[in-house]
Amino acid sequence: MRGARAFLAWAPRVLGLLLLGVHHLRVEGLGMEDVWSDHQEYTPRAYYLECPWKTIDSADDMLLKTGLELLWLGDQPPEYRQPLEALQAAHGFVESDEIFISAEANLGLAEAALGWGGKFSREHSHTEDEVRFALEGGVIWDIRERGPGEHWIRIHVYAGEAAIIPKDSWHRMFLLPHPTYVRMMRIYKDELGWQATYRDELPAGKEEL
Ligand SMILES: [Fe+2]
Repeated sequence: MRGARAFLAWAPRVLGLLLLGVHHLRVEGLGMEDVWSDHQEYTPRAYYLECPWKTIDSADDMLLKTGLELLWLGDQPPEYRQPLEALQAAHGFVESDEIFISAEANLGLAEAALGWGGKFSREHSHTEDEVRFALEGGVIWDIRERGPGEHWIRIHVYAGEAAIIPKDSWHRMFLLPHPTYVRMMRIYKDELGWQATYRDELPAGKEEL
């Protein structure tokens, strides 16, 4: 009886050590770097933040679930000039500006803008659509799924692409793990429509728009 109890107590640990040994052998055989790089191709475009295996597989699905529209404009000026003008005309945008944020070039600015509690990375909304065109690098957008669950949906946006975040929707933005910089154009109608409402600053009980 005592022997059986001891076996039950130790068997999982012995099994775990055996598995660990096999795992180490496998990793050593392939090289740790190879193992990691093998998985890069599996990073999806968009997914539920809390369930990353649950992916969003089309721009239409993204639009339906969140209202976020993703457009390809082009990554070279001759290519994107015309689509950009068409986008500006369609939405009545008359103003534009540009930001460049790089974790390598200016870590302080990157963290203040897109790090913990940053200007862009705190959950917020606007009374106008937010339109950002990535000219270089890329960003992560998190946007709340429409509906009572309000799950975060994360999308990776790269150079040549524009994201339209609909007005009155909660969202936040971060730098990508790679590349860790972004040059982005913002196009808009009026600076007033751009005042951010931060969700954590709303009075208690008024966290909904
Ligand atoms: Fe925003």
